[in-house]
Amino acid sequence: MTKKSTDKQPTTEQRQRAQELHDILQRANYQYYVLDDPELPDAEYDRRLRELQDLEAEYPDLVTPDSPTQRVGAGPLTSFAEVRHEVPMLSLDNAFNDEELQEFDRRVRDRLNTSEPVEYACEPKLDGIAISLLYREGVLERAATRGDGTTGEDITQNVRTVGSVPLRLLGNGVPAVLEVRGEIYMPKDGFAALNKKAAEAGEKTFVNPRNAAAGSLRQLDSRITAQRPLQLCVYGVGQVEGATLPGKHTEMLLQLNRWGFRINSEMAAARDIDGCIEYYQQLGEKRDALPYDIDGIVFKVNDTALQRRLGFVARAPRWAMAYKFPAQEEMTELLDVEFQVGRTGAVTPVARLKPVFVGGVTVSNATLHNRDEIERLGVKVGDTVVIRRAGDVIPQVVSVVESKRPKNARDIEFPTHCPVCDSPVESTPGEAVARCSGGLICSAQRKQAIKHFASRKAMDIDGLGDKLVEQLVDEGLLHSVSGLYDLTLEQLAGLERMGQKSAQNLLDALERSKDTTLPKFLYALGIREVGEATARNLARHYGDLESLMQADEESLQEVEDVGPVVAHFVAEFFQQTHAQEEIEALRQAGVHWQPEETGGEEQPLSGQTWVLTGKLETLSRSEAKDYLQRLGAKVAGSVSAKTDSVVAGPGAGSKLNKARELDIPTLDEEAFIEMLRGRGIEI
Ligand code: IVH
Repeated sequence: MTKKSTDKQPTTEQRQRAQELHDILQRANYQYYVLDDPELPDAEYDRRLRELQDLEAEYPDLVTPDSPTQRVGAGPLTSFAEVRHEVPMLSLDNAFNDEELQEFDRRVRDRLNTSEPVEYACEPKLDGIAISLLYREGVLERAATRGDGTTGEDITQNVRTVGSVPLRLLGNGVPAVLEVRGEIYMPKDGFAALNKKAAEAGEKTFVNPRNAAAGSLRQLDSRITAQRPLQLCVYGVGQVEGATLPGKHTEMLLQLNRWGFRINSEMAAARDIDGCIEYYQQLGEKRDALPYDIDGIVFKVNDTALQRRLGFVARAPRWAMAYKFPAQEEMTELLDVEFQVGRTGAVTPVARLKPVFVGGVTVSNATLHNRDEIERLGVKVGDTVVIRRAGDVIPQVVSVVESKRPKNARDIEFPTHCPVCDSPVESTPGEAVARCSGGLICSAQRKQAIKHFASRKAMDIDGLGDKLVEQLVDEGLLHSVSGLYDLTLEQLAGLERMGQKSAQNLLDALERSKDTTLPKFLYALGIREVGEATARNLARHYGDLESLMQADEESLQEVEDVGPVVAHFVAEFFQQTHAQEEIEALRQAGVHWQPEETGGEEQPLSGQTWVLTGKLETLSRSEAKDYLQRLGAKVAGSVSAKTDSVVAGPGAGSKLNKARELDIPTLDEEAFIEMLRGRGIEI
């Protein structure tokens, strides 16, 4: 940028701020691109970059050749050979709201000197690693990272191991030289499985799928890369010789697809910018159901001749824009750690945070899981931490920004005694969870046991919410599950915020709950590891409660899906005098059920395994699962040769592909509901 005499001069403070932003962004770049270990969440990076861009726009004098606004990333690692990109690999400008996107469209039309609508290609912005693949005479010659946009790293050996990277192109008209660009990423399910394995082996886990993809590609030993669940999706071309590609971006991608590349199945064309906004909203709703992480939508002028007319600015094309989604990771401060006691006594550390807006909501608590997790993160009270909230998953602390640790940061001490009842906290070797040994002496465990007993899928006691249970226990009116049926109108009506009418309603609900089923009753007892499906299997196997209560561990293992661990918990539960007394008290109070039809009787889907994937629109996932189980089917989380059918909603990805590969029948939601109705389920 040349300095013009008319340029406004920045103040000393503005100069200092620009330098500060340089330093922050430089450091963040290095951590992100070179170390694969980012400290700054993307949204924070974007904001700082935006601040610097704005400052530089106002005072062009501040622009220096080494400004982070003037380049894309940091230099490559020395351990891989360097590769020069003939056509630079650029970055994208970001929009954060509809107005900014509309401004982009206005700039495009101004430059093209047209008032006609411009058509855009719409693609999800995959959160992975940008890659360049060079094919000569249709054969993969070289794969490189973006690096700083001009010079990247040669990672051909690693990229070769990625299944979706074609080693030789298919079909006709393959150009003599073709450089394809795309993203290598790790799908969510592969990421979860990889981290689970790493955690079990006591190894370091990855912060997010993007990080896992970067770490996997940067392996010097490509045999390790080969074991990682990586995917390629292509979104553009660089160098092309010896062929002319279609004149529309979307058609060009379809051509790449015919030559053997995966392209994103959500790709679409929008007639104008309003169509883009609509696409952004629709995909935003599907975001959590997609099998991979995306951080926004990329809009590109679809006509490649117009793209050429528009050209580039320093770091990005004028014809494309990334419209970002609300960030799923943000930074905040860890104010304190509290320890919660669950139904089975599990002591869970919960991070109390300075409220932060992340993943579309304000978050002030996040789970820290267990003692091992605290150690793994190396986190202290007072630290600045990165919080991730993706979809409906509980917010998590994913990493610590150590450079921001204050001097007075304090170690987190795991309690040796229960914070609620003061009983000793015990750990079982080999188990990450520490538990309060107080059992039902512990009011926290009692409260959770009662809440569980009253919940919808258990005894379904309408109007007995969590707050009310806590109030009843705290005021000494309720000591056990069976005590619920001894509550009187006077006791209830005397509670704060409870009138005669609601008290009577609750008593009516309690009365109604007495007429139940054996599976619901078993589930309501809250036996460790006995969920709804196991409760159903136990009930069906034994038919009545007395036989189940007398069963030993060996016989329990004959029940479908019950192994030694569950058998042990069940037998142990019924041996407790306290449990026997509670059950007796509940029956005395009038809790009853019809005996179950036992064993042999075949159900319509007995012996079958089903998988649910993608978003369901009419049914909730838990309803769908419940119906399948009622018909005798097992519901599994992943597709394998043992799967009988797959229900696939919109956004279904790798599981659906796998089902197709294995020739497993798939149903959409409509067909699924029809199947359920045909088997007597009323929906
Ligand atoms: S186009 C010249 N399309 O986003 C245009 N990029 O900030 C260059 N990305 O480095 C990029 N999905 O790693 C484009 N559908 C998509 C993309 C995409 C993800 C990444 C890519 C790029 C970064 C730009």
